[in-house]
Amino acid sequence: MPEASVDGMTAQFLCPAEALIDGGTGVRFTVELNARQVGAFAVRFDGVVHGYLNQCAHVPMELDWQEGRFFESSGLYLICATHGAMYEPDSGQCVGGPCRGAALAKLRIEERDGKVFWVPEAPYRPVEQAVNA
Ligand code: FES
Repeated sequence: MPEASVDGMTAQFLCPAEALIDGGTGVRFTVELNARQVGAFAVRFDGVVHGYLNQCAHVPMELDWQEGRFFESSGLYLICATHGAMYEPDSGQCVGGPCRGAALAKLRIEERDGKVFWVPEAPYRPVEQAVNA
């Protein structure tokens, strides 16, 4: 994952800005949490890119059955494909389904110079690169 500095923090390049269209397919990536690798994703909504752990607030399953498909058909809500929890794309708050009132775990995303970055903040860390991979 190429890196850049955002506010003095090491940001992880995710994708070119144009790869994320409003209400469209998301970009998946991986973060490290408590020495475990956990899936995450970024989507664009109302012009702004938002990032979350790819774990439903109901049962920690990935939201997208079809890779990168996080929005339901109207493009207004994120949806968990497993049991249908609906989330506000900008806050991650669950507004319908089995985990109503809970929320997705939000990640810090920055968009600069036509690129989208994840800025790791505790407790999330970049995935350590395997030395001999
Ligand atoms: S696992 Fe996502 S709604 Fe139940």
